[in-house]
Amino acid sequence: MNTIYFDSSAQDEVRRQQLYAGQLFVFSPRPSVIALCQLARDLIEATLGSPIPQRAEDGLSVKEFLVAESSLKQQIMHHPQTKLLIQSLLQEFGCDLSKTYFDLPQLRIMPYRGYLPNGEGMFHDPHRDTWYAAPQCIINWWIPICDFASESALAFHPLYWKEPAQNDSEQFNQGQDYKINFREAEFPHPTEKVVIEPEIRVVCPASGILLFSGAQMHSAVPNTSGLTRYSLDLRTIHYDDAVAGKGAPNVDSHSPDALLTDFIQAADFTHFLNVTESQMKGAVVL
Ligand SMILES: [Fe+2]
Repeated sequence: MNTIYFDSSAQDEVRRQQLYAGQLFVFSPRPSVIALCQLARDLIEATLGSPIPQRAEDGLSVKEFLVAESSLKQQIMHHPQTKLLIQSLLQEFGCDLSKTYFDLPQLRIMPYRGYLPNGEGMFHDPHRDTWYAAPQCIINWWIPICDFASESALAFHPLYWKEPAQNDSEQFNQGQDYKINFREAEFPHPTEKVVIEPEIRVVCPASGILLFSGAQMHSAVPNTSGLTRYSLDLRTIHYDDAVAGKGAPNVDSHSPDALLTDFIQAADFTHFLNVTESQMKGAVVL
């Protein structure tokens, strides 16, 4: 990895190849993303108060916060407008809707450091999304709902694009309902000390997008910004790439198989027809 493309006009086919090669893409706010974020903001404000609380945890016990967070995750995932807004988003970004499949977006709320003393670790640990039973072609569209700072950003750890890190991904249990109880789920971790530096943090405005391969080693920076961070994780796969086993190089993911049946086609919202594990994990090294 060596390049961050800003507002690139590359076609989706080219963009995917660059992502599989470890490059990052950052985009300014666009109408479809603004609309998706506005829906999320409306739901957050209705649940946590208005205007959107940049210190969501203030005044809430940890238990109350977790209940509100869990409710919001479900509200955003299952709102009748969500799929349509994502369809518009993928269209605006030039994706072939009949070939592009997406998972319902996951809301992430990052309280300031120390608020969740028992839950912080798993959010900060460096990891690859491909450790979580995902194919090597998975792409993460990371969307900040509010402005955020370097002190609450994602960090990428480029040393590990080509280098493996020992991890326990082979034990990942995809049967757990991590989409509901994300903070209580058991996710793969490194089993050796990961060298954090050098790291790359990308800061963009609210409703911007950061696109990266799920094979990127990344972590959530401990939030010392003084403000709660709200973001959406939207993950996509391209059907042809999944079937052909294309994607980023697999240097250390040993998770058992992939969760593709949750993915829905952007054109008609039908579910992904699964392909074999060997096709998905046998990614072509670019
Ligand atoms: Fe991640």
